[in-house]
Amino acid sequence: MDRRKVLKSVATFLPISAAFAGLAAMGVRFITPIKREIDRKIFTVGLEELPLNATKRFKDLRGRDLMLVRTGEREVKAISTVCTHLGCTVFWQKDRQEFFCPCHNGRFDKNGTVLGGPPPAPLDLYPVEIEGDNVFVIFKDIKEV
Ligand code: FES
Repeated sequence: MDRRKVLKSVATFLPISAAFAGLAAMGVRFITPIKREIDRKIFTVGLEELPLNATKRFKDLRGRDLMLVRTGEREVKAISTVCTHLGCTVFWQKDRQEFFCPCHNGRFDKNGTVLGGPPPAPLDLYPVEIEGDNVFVIFKDIKEV
């Protein structure tokens, strides 16, 4: 095969090969999309609806319960209600201003800190932002790009 024929066949098949490689890359990306963790800022409640030391139940983006607790004039905590011991649901005891886990008598204060019982760690907190009189909670979410 002479040099001219080799160059001609390369010039013919190179663009076709590049096109197939591009299609294959698109196919791989379609089958295994890239996922990124992003923050979603969700409005939860107005401050006027949540008096000092009051609580309000809310759900995160995956349907898990959390509790909003107003701990100061312009301070609200968003606390997971999943006990850090074995995953039971804690509930708020208004009279004691504590979270209580009925499974093994775990107790947490209004900031999620362990007060007693077997829980090894505080309750999970979600970041909170207060803009004007609106309380927003920041949730982690997965986005396909
Ligand atoms: S699961 Fe909550 S104290 Fe054990």
